[in-house]
Amino acid sequence: MSEQNYDLVIIGSGPGGYTCAIRASQLGLKTAIIEKDKTLGGTCLNVGCIPSKALLESSEHFSMAQHDFASHGVKLSNVELDLPTMLSRKEKVVKELTQGVAFLMKKNKVDVFYGTGSLQSAQQVKVQLSTGELKILGAKKIVLATGSVPVDLPFLKVDEKKIVSSTGALCLDKVPKKLAVIGAGVIGLELGSVWKRLGSQVTVFEFANKICGTLDSGTATQFQKILAKQGFEFHLETKVTGAEVTAKGVELQYESVVDGKKGSMIADVVLVAIGRKPFSGSLGLNEAGVLQDKVGRVVVDNHFKTNIDSIYAIGDLIAGPMLAHKAEEEGVAVAEILAGKYGHVNYLTVPSVIYTWPEVASVGLTEEQLKEQNIPYNVGTFPFLANGRAKALGYTEGQVKILAHKNHDRIMGVHIVGPRASEVIAEAVIAMEFCGSSEDLARSFHAHPTLAETVREAALACDKRARQM
Ligand code: FAD
Ligand code: NAI
Repeated sequence: MSEQNYDLVIIGSGPGGYTCAIRASQLGLKTAIIEKDKTLGGTCLNVGCIPSKALLESSEHFSMAQHDFASHGVKLSNVELDLPTMLSRKEKVVKELTQGVAFLMKKNKVDVFYGTGSLQSAQQVKVQLSTGELKILGAKKIVLATGSVPVDLPFLKVDEKKIVSSTGALCLDKVPKKLAVIGAGVIGLELGSVWKRLGSQVTVFEFANKICGTLDSGTATQFQKILAKQGFEFHLETKVTGAEVTAKGVELQYESVVDGKKGSMIADVVLVAIGRKPFSGSLGLNEAGVLQDKVGRVVVDNHFKTNIDSIYAIGDLIAGPMLAHKAEEEGVAVAEILAGKYGHVNYLTVPSVIYTWPEVASVGLTEEQLKEQNIPYNVGTFPFLANGRAKALGYTEGQVKILAHKNHDRIMGVHIVGPRASEVIAEAVIAMEFCGSSEDLARSFHAHPTLAETVREAALACDKRARQM
């Protein structure tokens, strides 16, 4: 068995791992990365962020061609869905980006090993190469970045055909007439939107009393109303209790958690989207003595270090929101720490986005959190209805809500439902990163006419001086 030595060995090539590898190499560390799958990029590039956004874009075009172009004076007849082309376009986008990561590894002189990595000792990683060979990599430091996998329901075995996780829902070969979604979280609503736009009837079952658990409540209520208008059927406070695959489809039994009222439906496809859990099965954490918490997340300190001095962990494998940009920032921070610099992640400004139409984007605290923490605040809201660019776009549902501290006006949270909210949120993130106030936003130039002007107006509204509405 051959052995090679590195300053840093990273296990897992998702946004956490590959970003860490690039930064470490830039800082002069001899770096290797190990990936068990055939392509680099992890969940995000292969079966997560990128393919879902490709399908969201394509399905939105289809929906607009059917329902919206006519109002712009663009007449189309016989708008038809070509699902194989839509799916192969998505594959092409994924392929280009995963190859892009492979190129970046080469450019940054990071050695890539395709195979399953596990901890052999505190400074050795064993790699079961996909070619069948075994290799030992010596490592001064090891970063675990093995990400997460979907949570299952014990009575609903995912076959990725009729009962699917997000991975199967990204490649259904025909549009299900009836799609049942279990879990009204990000995946359920994004992928539910894709198939809804392509023609499915979508029924969502959610255990909690609101959609998108951690979202600001007012924002979630507004969002749910918009989705219901689009045709989403919601069963909140409902648990699915059983399922049977029959010739007709999947028969689901469900029950209200409030009054026990029972119901059933037959769906062509069921999407199980009830959350994700850290993935560390193959790492040999117990044997190496690496501590995990009750839900399997690797426990790290402020410097991403586990209880073993040479072993670090980042991304979905540790606590915090399971988001690609969070994993990336941690990847950069840990590389900088390992190179003797001051890596740091500001968790107060992690934006989160739901890429439906309209989109939902938020950063910072919700109104509920401000109340819980007894933080006095002002609220400024502004509707897209009064925004010139939204009118021109033909989409005016939603609003921007800014929460600013009552005493010193610092921005505490921003919550947006509206067109292109994913782009609009960026200025709020920067403002919060610089500890900005609502007045700072209100006094900043915003090009006219842009959707971002709604942010300035909401900031003005914090001081009760919005200029419109
Ligand atoms: P991952 O991306 O999961 O990468 C881990 C890698 O490690 C994988 O490639 C895996 O094969 C590899 N690995 C695991 N074990 C081993 C081993 N023993 N040896 C070698 N390799 C191993 N986040 C966003 O911010 N925006 C979005 O729009 C978004 N959309 C999403 C859509 C879907 C459908 C899903 C499922 C997720 C989405 N996410 C999104 C979440 C995002 O994908 C994750 O937060 C992110 O990928 C986590 O990055 P990571 O580097 O921690 O792990
Ligand atoms: P989620 O945590 O967003 O939502 C899961 C939902 O399922 C919750 O509302 C929960 O109450 C509900 N639930 C749990 N058990 C249930 C049950 N038995 N019956 C009915 N409902 C139940 O998880 P999701 O959507 O699976 O996404 C996983 C992760 O992936 C998220 O944490 C998210 O951060 C990430 N992701 C991010 C995206 C983005 O940034 N745009 C897109 C997709 C995923």
